[in-house]
Amino acid sequence: MWVFLLFSSAISSCVKTNYFTECLDDLTQDIIVSGSDCGEDYPKIFKSQDCTFTCNPGTYLDISNNELTCSECPSGSFSIGGGLIYGGDGHLWDKSLSKFIRECSIRSEDKDYFNINCTSWEIFNNILISGQSTTNNTYTSGLSLSFKIVKPGEFTLTYRKDTTRVNGKKVGFLSVFINLRQVYFDNNIEESTWKTMTQNLEPGNYEVFIEYLTLRSASNPNPHAYISEIKVTGTEFASKYCLPCLRGGNKPGSSLCNLCDFNEYWDGNFCQDCPEDKYSIKGAVGENSCKDREICSEHDYKHVYSECVNDMRNTSFQWKQPVLCDYKNYELPKGEQGLPCESCKDGFIKEKIGNITKCIPCNDGMYVNKDNKCVKCPAGTYGWRSYNISDWTELPTNFSTSCLTLSGNPCLTSSGWIPNTYFISADSNHDPHSEFFLSLKISIEGNSGTLKFIYEFINYLSGIIDIYIDGSLLDSLNNQGLQAYSLNLTTGDHIIEWVYWSNITSSEELRIYSIKIQGSYEGGSKRCLICPDGTYSKEGSSICSQCSEGYTSNKESTDCVLCKENYYSPNKGSKCYKCPPGTDSNNNKTNCKAIDYAYLNDEAYYLANISGVGGKEGVYTYGICNMLSSKLYCHQTFYGPLPGENKDFYISVLNPALLSLPSTSYYFDPKTAFAYVVMDKKSLSYFKEQTSDICHNDKAIVSLGTIISGVNYLYNGALKIDYSQGDICDKHKNKYNSTLILKCDKASGIGWPSFNKSNYCSYEFLWKSKYGCPICTYDQMATIKSSCENGKRMFKKIEGPGCIIPIEDDIEWYESCSESIYKTWPMILAILITGILIIASIISSIIYRKYHIGYSLLANQSGGSEIN
Ligand SMILES: *[C@@H]1O[C@H](CO)[C@@H](O)[C@H](O)[C@H]1NC(C)=O
Ligand SMILES: *[C@@H]1O[C@H](CO)[C@@H](O)[C@H](O)[C@H]1NC(C)=O
Ligand SMILES: *[C@@H]1O[C@H](CO)[C@@H](O)[C@H](O)[C@H]1NC(C)=O
Ligand SMILES: *[C@@H]1O[C@H](CO)[C@@H](O)[C@H](O)[C@H]1NC(C)=O
Ligand SMILES: *[C@@H]1O[C@H](CO)[C@@H](O)[C@H](O)[C@H]1NC(C)=O
Ligand SMILES: *[C@@H]1O[C@H](CO)[C@@H](O)[C@H](O)[C@H]1NC(C)=O
Ligand SMILES: *[C@@H]1O[C@H](CO)[C@@H](O)[C@H](O)[C@H]1NC(C)=O
Ligand SMILES: *[C@@H]1O[C@H](CO)[C@@H](O)[C@H](O)[C@H]1NC(C)=O
Ligand SMILES: *[C@@H]1O[C@H](CO)[C@@H](O)[C@H](O)[C@H]1NC(C)=O
Ligand SMILES: *[C@@H]1O[C@H](CO)[C@@H](O)[C@H](O)[C@H]1NC(C)=O
Ligand SMILES: *[C@@H]1O[C@H](CO)[C@@H](O)[C@H](O)[C@H]1NC(C)=O
Repeated sequence: MWVFLLFSSAISSCVKTNYFTECLDDLTQDIIVSGSDCGEDYPKIFKSQDCTFTCNPGTYLDISNNELTCSECPSGSFSIGGGLIYGGDGHLWDKSLSKFIRECSIRSEDKDYFNINCTSWEIFNNILISGQSTTNNTYTSGLSLSFKIVKPGEFTLTYRKDTTRVNGKKVGFLSVFINLRQVYFDNNIEESTWKTMTQNLEPGNYEVFIEYLTLRSASNPNPHAYISEIKVTGTEFASKYCLPCLRGGNKPGSSLCNLCDFNEYWDGNFCQDCPEDKYSIKGAVGENSCKDREICSEHDYKHVYSECVNDMRNTSFQWKQPVLCDYKNYELPKGEQGLPCESCKDGFIKEKIGNITKCIPCNDGMYVNKDNKCVKCPAGTYGWRSYNISDWTELPTNFSTSCLTLSGNPCLTSSGWIPNTYFISADSNHDPHSEFFLSLKISIEGNSGTLKFIYEFINYLSGIIDIYIDGSLLDSLNNQGLQAYSLNLTTGDHIIEWVYWSNITSSEELRIYSIKIQGSYEGGSKRCLICPDGTYSKEGSSICSQCSEGYTSNKESTDCVLCKENYYSPNKGSKCYKCPPGTDSNNNKTNCKAIDYAYLNDEAYYLANISGVGGKEGVYTYGICNMLSSKLYCHQTFYGPLPGENKDFYISVLNPALLSLPSTSYYFDPKTAFAYVVMDKKSLSYFKEQTSDICHNDKAIVSLGTIISGVNYLYNGALKIDYSQGDICDKHKNKYNSTLILKCDKASGIGWPSFNKSNYCSYEFLWKSKYGCPICTYDQMATIKSSCENGKRMFKKIEGPGCIIPIEDDIEWYESCSESIYKTWPMILAILITGILIIASIISSIIYRKYHIGYSLLANQSGGSEIN
């Protein structure tokens, strides 16, 4: 099969075209180069060429001198170095939409109805518009795409969306999920300008799901989201051809359709330099857009310090790039010499090499003590680096900035935030709704991080600054006066974005004076922080290690210790939690399990026969599952399969184990749990359905709870056992949980658990049983006595109503009595026996019926015909 090609190189009249065969298992492909007017040699075949030959963006895979090479894309075209672009500069949506799964759903009474009473994404003028619903329910318009990444790449979405306020609540959310994980969420209300979200992707298989969730309202009867472009890079090792630029010119070797640079203009074919005495800003089209340079001012240059030599340094002045003013007719101020060197910032020490002095941070796990020496952090703590960016001579490392107009294109009058020596600023002297992006890439090394910044609106009118972390909106600020704002960051890489925008053109200006980051790899440590519970460190650490399951850190956080008796720690790095009443920790202190006699609400319950917890953990040792008749309906420590909602449930009574079923696999990582459900993989997540590796009839095991979150007495005479922290249930990272109601019902005998009801991510089971009744206290027992025989009478304690006696041995004793000499006693005895016989036969028929009902119930619930 021939893969579509298309790149032609035109040199004089010779036009070469490359065709590629499909990549074979040995990672080779054939390349055929055809050429019209290129001589006798063509077409040429190059066999078994390496498919993993990698070309960077701006180039395409080509053959030169009989070898694979990456050729530069010519002017007016671009490549992303192996990837997909739908809409925007790439393939038209008309041709791309078939690659996506579109769907809509409405939510009514906690249930999702798919593709009913709603429409999904449609094309309009080469952008995608979310559909609408005919009902007043919450509705979702979903778009999903699967792809494989072969080299590190990115997913980029360019969109805008409507968000309004309905009855005080925000309505209209756009989210992006990658492999079930929400990576982006936007419910920003005031603006609905074009935005871009980007997510880095490592090689692997991906499913991206874009969701717009909204509701019709009086103020916006037809809310919509719009997508102009979806771009994925890294799906191929190289682009096989370059795409023509649809939206204007760029330079050879481009990875996107770039606008012409500062002091250049687009002449229709190439970017040309403006005349020397003129300037232009990015994206200028036509020579007329080059304007006369203005007189330079102090905003056009910056001061720079030299190195510190022999404790002295000099300053000088330099032009900021790009130079737009009339620099030829302006003289930069003279620098100064012999200035004192900088004093080191917190966490830095002076280091002198030769005659040059520098401020350097301490090594990892060290901090600067009072004597300005680097010393190791003591055990139980970690070094917390901190740095404060307050020098805005230039855009600092790892910052980037840009400006986008309402239509999503780069602003023509600004290129973003401007560093201004003592602050960095954005101003609204531009088109209304233009957005000014300032973004910072940071990496938090320690167990936690914080970011603090100081900002101020000058000439405040209506602007807002939105703060994003990893693409998710965190906050929108417009407080006036000098303001400080801080946010917490988790371990790992983050992108922090400051987005300033205003709905009107004004002289408003937003300034950020300083940004302080704590917990990253950068900067110096002034102090050491104490390791959080569940983690520990040795002397000189920059990070705390996590204690394993069953353990937590000691008081000093210098080591791990086993959880105390009756406490457990279910996860790595977690602290120890107390086991709920009626339970006790297991040997390894990683979970809790039932105790035979549970004391709850001042009463004791006998759980041994239904929990099956015995000497050995993770097995059913002794209890009702050992009865011959119930073996079929028990599995390991679980009661089940219990049918319900086309699923099979397995539930244990406070006796956790790892369920193992032949030929059924776990959907998530297998983990010991108290309850499981076995269900169709496709009903687990509707957008996973279409992936190739899932067979539709496949079943999967899903945990309904890995910890006991409560054992409580309900006032209607039942015990409520809650399990939680099961597997992930939905896109919002809610987890499955389950509840077992053990209801006191002596008439049901041992009874059997059954599925009762479900509500979104939780399932409830009901078990009517005598084991749900408390153990009789002495007072609750009934006493029976025998007749007086040989001067003695036997007394016996038996179960009272509503309670049980879980011991085999009888509680009986004798008391002396005087024998009755009533002559007609044989007659009375006869009447008594007759009476007892009648009562016994009634009782036994009732018991028979109850057992019969009980067993047919059992048979029905178990769904098996095996019992017959
Ligand atoms: C769909 O709309 C029809 C007509 O308005 C209504 O009868 C039906 O209940 C709706 N279905 C759902 C699932 O909301
Ligand atoms: C939806 O709500 C509007 C008012 O907000 C109402 O006029 C309309 O009848 C409702 N439609 C349905 C199908 O309930
Ligand atoms: C500062 O300037 C003086 C005079 O130009 C020069 O001799 C000296 O080396 C400079 N110092 C540094 C640190 O560059
Ligand atoms: C600093 O030391 C270097 C060599 O180590 C020497 O060449 C240079 O002249 C010294 N500069 C001053 C200002 O002392
Ligand atoms: C910039 O980012 C790189 C890579 O994330 C990192 O290694 C470097 O330390 C960062 N530099 C600063 C000054 O934050
Ligand atoms: C801009 O937003 C402010 C509130 O932030 C509002 O009072 C004003 O009317 C808006 N102006 C325009 C032109 O939309
Ligand atoms: C950040 O974390 C600290 C300590 O956990 C907490 O006290 C503080 O409230 C958090 N700040 C924010 C903005 O969440
Ligand atoms: C950063 O340093 C400057 C000057 O040293 C100080 O004014 C500012 O408050 C610091 N910023 C933060 C967020 O601590
Ligand atoms: C408990 O620990 C022992 C040894 O440390 C290990 O063999 C056993 O598998 C653990 N049990 C559980 C239930 O984790
Ligand atoms: C079970 O999960 C639901 C969300 O699906 C939650 O609302 C509920 O509080 C949870 N119950 C328990 C006992 O954790
Ligand atoms: C516990 O179960 C066993 C059967 O495994 C049964 O013989 C015994 O009577 C039961 N004990 C109670 C108190 O129900």
